[in-house]
Amino acid sequence: MNRLEIRRPDDFHAHVRQGPLLAQAVPMSNDFGRVLVMPNTVPHVLTAADAKAYREAIVDAGASFEPLMTISIAPSTTPEIVREASVHGVVAGKLYPDGVTTNSEGGVRDLADLEPVFRAMEECGLVLCLHGETPGVFVLDREAAFVETTLPWLVTSFPGLRIVLEHVTTAQAVDAVRAGPAHVGATITVHHLAITLDDVIGDRLEPHNFCKPVAKRPDDRAALVDAATSGDPAFFLGTDSAPHLQEAKECSGGAAGVFTAPLALAVLAEIFEARGALDRLEGFTSVHGADFYGLSPSEETVELVRHAWDVPASIDGLVPFRAGRTLGWQIVRDS
Ligand code: DOR
Ligand code: ZN
Repeated sequence: MNRLEIRRPDDFHAHVRQGPLLAQAVPMSNDFGRVLVMPNTVPHVLTAADAKAYREAIVDAGASFEPLMTISIAPSTTPEIVREASVHGVVAGKLYPDGVTTNSEGGVRDLADLEPVFRAMEECGLVLCLHGETPGVFVLDREAAFVETTLPWLVTSFPGLRIVLEHVTTAQAVDAVRAGPAHVGATITVHHLAITLDDVIGDRLEPHNFCKPVAKRPDDRAALVDAATSGDPAFFLGTDSAPHLQEAKECSGGAAGVFTAPLALAVLAEIFEARGALDRLEGFTSVHGADFYGLSPSEETVELVRHAWDVPASIDGLVPFRAGRTLGWQIVRDS
């Protein structure tokens, strides 16, 4: 097969930034029909009014995708804030445990304090998106700790709450989502399907593969590829594309985040093809996530062609995933 036409994909987890970076980051996601926009700007997107202003800035920055807005579920969040957000079209609340990733300082410590907020989300139909790592635990075990304790508490305490465990990185998280109810789903990133911890620190330090949660072991990656290519509707694409300026990555204390948006679909086509699962790519990129969020899959299509191309070393000061490598599939763009 040398060409592939699929429904226009959605990205159910991306960072499009703010300030000067916004104008660079937003067009990078234009292959997607809809993008669930993460709220971890400085300050976070906390209210309906914040989300409205951020949405307008994203549209002004040249988005050809529909921004699906989120608010951050913070210690200051109230049921009223949730209800107001829902009325104004916000689709999800994102929970960052304190200090687990970029701009999450001052995040949630005790989830029990937020019970009325989760109830309100349950009532309004706002999806709870989870950065599923427990603060203070050894870095490779943070997701496991969350999956063993916090996730089951949320699922049993709020049986009507739709939950997405974001950017799963372990076989254990995949198993938990498979075993869970249908209203618990998971996003999987492109980079976690492609790399392990070896690609970050196994040889020389590769800061452009450093992200949170960090990539794990080969058997974890294999479980993620199994889940993504299985056709199971609980698993769908959330790239977690997270651009940072090159100098913010290549330094001591470098920022976490892998910038994948403009090559996400090309890399995915390679991964699915290697599995003999190209026929399941559309489900993962364009159908399962829309279904989970109660949206119609896109009526538009995108085309991928088998064509070798070199990923640039840098795109306007942003180093993309797989920089300098040759990819075997390319998305066809109008311009
Ligand atoms: O690697 C990451 N980068 N993980 C996150 O959860 C946040 C993101 C960012 O905003 O840079
Ligand atoms: Zn993210």
